[in-house]
Amino acid sequence: MSLLMEQLSETVSFIRSQYANTPLVGIVLGSGLGNLVAEMTVEKEIPYHQLPHFPVSTVEGHSGKLIFGELLGKKVLVMAGRFHYYEGYSASEVSYPIRVMKLLGVETLLLSNAAGGMNTRFAVGDLMIINDHISLFAVNPLIGKNEKELGPRFPDMSEPYNRSLIARARTIASSLNIPVHEGVYVGVTGPTFETRAEYKMLHTLGADAVGMSTVQEVIVARHMDIQVFAISVITDLGIREEENIITHEEVLQAASEAEPKLTAIFKQLVQVI
Ligand code: HPA
Repeated sequence: MSLLMEQLSETVSFIRSQYANTPLVGIVLGSGLGNLVAEMTVEKEIPYHQLPHFPVSTVEGHSGKLIFGELLGKKVLVMAGRFHYYEGYSASEVSYPIRVMKLLGVETLLLSNAAGGMNTRFAVGDLMIINDHISLFAVNPLIGKNEKELGPRFPDMSEPYNRSLIARARTIASSLNIPVHEGVYVGVTGPTFETRAEYKMLHTLGADAVGMSTVQEVIVARHMDIQVFAISVITDLGIREEENIITHEEVLQAASEAEPKLTAIFKQLVQVI
């Protein structure tokens, strides 16, 4: 067995020794977006630092634990706090928890993130369902020996974000009267926010929003044939001519203000999965 498969198997055995149920839906909550947990019946929490081979999260706004439980009768596994490439983790460390999710039984992954808007129709606090992504500068987590047990050497990426989940989320959002955009997310490394010229370039390349997460997790999930749904909360606008100073505090503030909309959509989506 390869080192990666051995480590995964140790992480999974440890979790199984603490929690017996099988979660079918995995949820990754982005910066300032942790409140979905308040809607869950929590059955077990395991801080990342207790998990063998798990990286430890260091960013403000990320609490750093796996939360197992039920949301509207469905067994879910929530990652409260994720790992970012800009923290110094390797691409395979960033996506390690997604592999653990798969081996625990997860079939569907819901992700959220905070992102900078570049589409001129976007405003701070809007939600954007991600319908495709561009991976820019972020190292592909599948580089290296392919683990056949996890997925193919050359995974198809023609539908990274499941169309049927997008359609269902749109129906849910409209029934809740929550306006949503749909668009392309470009994943960059950070940790700097973009320069004016970079925002302009990323928009020209075809992206509607930019962020520092998600893409590597989605690649690993698709490698293992997990179906994926993701939403960005637009926390700042990269295309303003004036007052375009962007701070982490502003991002967290905008994320937490928009969070109830995101939580409502995720909740109902989990119910119909
Ligand atoms: N750029 C990159 N990542 C981000 C941004 C941004 O403007 N906002 C939130 N995450």
